[in-house]
Parts: sequence; structure tokens; C-alpha cells
Amino acid sequence: MNTPHLATSKNDTCRGSLACVGMGMTLGSHLTPLARSHIEQADVVFAALSNGVVEMWLERMHPDVRSLQPYYKPGKSRMKTYREWVQVMMTEVRAGKRVCGVFYGHPGIFAWSPHKVIEVARAEGFEAHMEPGISAEDCLYADLGIDPGRFGCQHFEASQLLFYERRIDPAGYLVLWQVALTGDWSLGRLETGPAYRQVLVELLNRDYPLDHELIIYRGATLPIEKPCVRRIALRDLPHVPLTAEETVVLPPATPLKPNSVIRDRLNALDKLYGTSTLA
Ligand SMILES: C[S@@+](CC[C@H](N)C(=O)[O-])C[C@H]1O[C@@H](n2cnc3c(N)ncnc32)[C@H](O)[C@@H]1O
Repeated sequence: MNTPHLATSKNDTCRGSLACVGMGMTLGSHLTPLARSHIEQADVVFAALSNGVVEMWLERMHPDVRSLQPYYKPGKSRMKTYREWVQVMMTEVRAGKRVCGVFYGHPGIFAWSPHKVIEVARAEGFEAHMEPGISAEDCLYADLGIDPGRFGCQHFEASQLLFYERRIDPAGYLVLWQVALTGDWSLGRLETGPAYRQVLVELLNRDYPLDHELIIYRGATLPIEKPCVRRIALRDLPHVPLTAEETVVLPPATPLKPNSVIRDRLNALDKLYGTSTLA
């Protein structure tokens, strides 16, 4: 396949630059031509991908792919790991290399390091760019047949929903990320467990009945896989097995409530200006 070539001058090549690109979710089918071009034109590629097979596929595109996975360690705060990722990428940018960071899904969705390393690179005067990818969110809309524009859609990281006072709107969709890690202050655990998820259930029960059906979703990461969709009652969330690659969706629990005050104001405006002006 022909890939578009990015404009680079000779000066750019020794100046150091950064691109953070998304690999998409499913191996082989989600990588955009622009993301591929960034990978192929880089001097060094760093990879934070969903599994080793995807990393092997990336290695066929570039001779110098460095995995970021070994920076994870049991019990080590993920924030420490993510700061180290920023440092290793910036070391190469400062050395004058064209650096490409490849992240699974979209590099800017529920991902700290790509945003941070771009901010640091730009602050130091380097060219830095984020190239979007197909995220778990995109796959979820397609696989579950959800249009976020129909009733509105809120997204929260599950722990953040517990740690802070947030306002849930049960008339729209609610998408919860990293539910397997619910309530982990340490950022060092790979899962928390039923007691932590029970706290989440009790918080959600303020806005949803315990028998409200929620969806546990895992999109395909390999082309041979199918999306995994499980439907359970809210009360059962603590007791089902849950992996780090799953996202939880709560469909709306209440109908949209008309806002009569605002409708009256808009009707008055229609009368004043004539409805044809709004057409
Ligand atoms: C650190 S975030 C990374 C998201 C990624 N940057 C993206 O664009 O989708 C990890 C969370 O993404 C979601 N996730 C990751 N892989 C998934 C998959 N295959 N299917 C559904 N959700 C997934 C889960 O909620 C998981 O806890």
C-alpha cells in the first residue's frame, strides 16, 4: 500500500522531532496511512501496545522498535512508569532523532504519556504531533450499536468517579474505563476486586436501580477474535470476572426530560424573529 509522505526537510532530520501515533485496536486493520508513515520515517520507534503479537507486527515496519512494556513492574506505580516513558522518548528527541511513539488505540484517549511528552517536547522547542487512532471507544460505538449523539454520553475513569464528586446523568449513556482497577490509589495494582467494585455499585445505585442492565465490552485486538459483549445486572458487577481490557457501559435509565423553561424562551425567540430565520 502506498503511504503518504510527510514533508520533512534535511534540517528537520537532525533537529529532533516527535510524533505520537495510534495503532488502533485491531491488529492489521486499524493503522492509518499517516500513522504508518510516521512510523516508517522515524529514526527510533517506541511501542506501548496491547500485546506481543501487535509488537511483532510493528517490528516488521521498522528496524528499531523499542518496547515500553518492560518499564511496568508489579507493585510499581504506573505514573512512575509513564514518567519514565516520557524521559526515554525525550532523550532521543533531544539527541536529534525523529521519534515515533506508538500506542494502542488512540494515543490521546485515557493515555497520560503521549499528551505529556508532546507538551514537554513543544516546551523545549521541538516539533511534536499527535496522530489519532481508532480507540476502544470507537469500536464500542460500532460493536454495540450506540450513537453517543442520541442521548448524550459521559465517560469516566472508574476510580475518578469514586475519588471525586461527579454528576452522573442517567438519561444518557455512561461509559466507565479501567473498571478492573476501581479504587486503586496506588496505581500499582493490576486489579482491585469485588469489595472495591461493590463501592462503585453503591455509588451508581444512587442513579440506577440494582437490576439495571449494564454491558461489559471487550473489542477485538486480533483479527481472528470477535468482540466480547456480556450483559449483567448492576448488582452483579462485583462478582463477575473482569479484565483490564474491558470497558463497562450503562445504557440510559431514565427518559430525557423536556426543559420547559428553555423551550418557552426559544418559542418566544421564534415568535420574535420568525421561525424561517432558524431554518
Ligand atoms: C489506559 S486505557 C487505554 C485506552 C486506549 N488509549 C484507547 O484508545 O482505547 C485502558 C482502558 O481502555 C479500555 N480498553 C482497552 N482495551 C480494550 C478493548 N480491547 N476493548 C474494550 N475496552 C478496552 C479499558 O477500559 C481499559 O481499562
